[in-house]
Amino acid sequence: MKNDNFLKENNATHMWHPMAHPADSLANSPTIVTAASGVQITDVDGHETIDAVGGLWNVNLGFSCQPIKDAISAQLDVLPYYSTFRGTSNDAVIELSYMLREFFAEDGLTRAFFTSGGSDSVETALRLSRQYHKIRGDHGRTKFLSLQKGYHGTHFGGASVNGNANFRTAYEPLMAGCYHIPAPYTYRNPFNESDPERLAQLCLNALENTIAMQDASTIAAFIMEPVLGAGGVIPPHPSFMPGVRDICDRHGILLIADEVITAFGRTGSWSGSRHFGVKPDIMCTAKAITNAYFPFGAAMLSEKVVDVFESDTSGKAFIGHGYTYSGHPVGAAAAIACLKETERLQVHNNAAARGNELFAGLQELASRHEIIGDVRGGEGLMCALELVADRASKAPIDKAVALQLQQATYEAGVMVRVSGPNVILSPPLILTADDTSAIVAALDSGFSALS
Ligand SMILES: Cc1ncc(COP(=O)(O)O)c(C=O)c1O
Repeated sequence: MKNDNFLKENNATHMWHPMAHPADSLANSPTIVTAASGVQITDVDGHETIDAVGGLWNVNLGFSCQPIKDAISAQLDVLPYYSTFRGTSNDAVIELSYMLREFFAEDGLTRAFFTSGGSDSVETALRLSRQYHKIRGDHGRTKFLSLQKGYHGTHFGGASVNGNANFRTAYEPLMAGCYHIPAPYTYRNPFNESDPERLAQLCLNALENTIAMQDASTIAAFIMEPVLGAGGVIPPHPSFMPGVRDICDRHGILLIADEVITAFGRTGSWSGSRHFGVKPDIMCTAKAITNAYFPFGAAMLSEKVVDVFESDTSGKAFIGHGYTYSGHPVGAAAAIACLKETERLQVHNNAAARGNELFAGLQELASRHEIIGDVRGGEGLMCALELVADRASKAPIDKAVALQLQQATYEAGVMVRVSGPNVILSPPLILTADDTSAIVAALDSGFSALS
């Protein structure tokens, strides 16, 4: 390993970082993380902090999950790779598909299509939903609907249904036939409605309206995160997702739940769909499926979709889609071990308990720090603080101030993520009550350092 000076001198000079301006990375060196253990990370200067980002919403079991590390290493020794394209398979992926079917039985999901990550899972779901309608002879159903503020990764399909200009404008024109409806975001919405239940109904009305305008017979699927995550953690009223399910059913539109961050316990339930009592037609998973230790994902399919594909005799159900690393045996071995640990530790229960504590702690901070305009959470271990320059007008904060807060909080012992005006918290699900208090205390110091 190169020494620390080498790392600092060469940081960001030979690579471009995702979701960053290259000039900014050169001017403001990224934090170089060199070690991690439990819920803590250590940087190149030896500074230890709690990782309240949880890697990137994915290190649910922390950085020291030995059974996953062992499974990866053992699989590398026995079978480091073999493809699952037509005609071949591997033992690890067969075992994993069996386990996932059991894990997602309550969600009505019975088949897995394996991918290399979240964007791939979204792409798979979008493609298979168009194909589903074509197999049934419903050739006109090609459009997609989604939520403003939604994040669905960065492939062209996912970017086209993304609901944030940051991920769209530079890459336009995107895929034709994608339409967005307002998000159930009580703090800011076009209806000026702050009551969550009434807002949910207004958004559902907007969905009905868009369907009428586009004509239901042209729409393949609606894709949504059960709780909007990267767009700023926006938990909907509990009536929202069931309302979407009902509308999709009435119009023959498939419902894709993008659970790349919510599957495997983050909301306090095993899936975000289950959290809201909804069975999706397709569910996108990735991230925590291997606790981040191997790039991997799965699009999970419901019986309704499966029946159409598996009973086809015309040849139209041939799946001309897949990745070299679909069903990678090392990823599958990691996921098997991860799923066992996830269930053994029942991390969804801890996510719910710690999530409530964190949400309450953040609300208390808001009572003392004027800069906090909105506190969002209450659905497991995913929370956000939206910072404002002025509470009355809700004028957005200067980006530099949010970055200053991040730095001060880091110095006080906690890594948080800043995205635009939002401070996003998505810590590992194995967090303790003490860790939760430490996160709130470090943010408190961070806010105090601003004034
Ligand atoms: C809901 C959602 N979908 C898709 C993605 C894309 O996943 P990946 O970055 O693994 O491609 C993300 C990533 O954060 C996500 O949060």
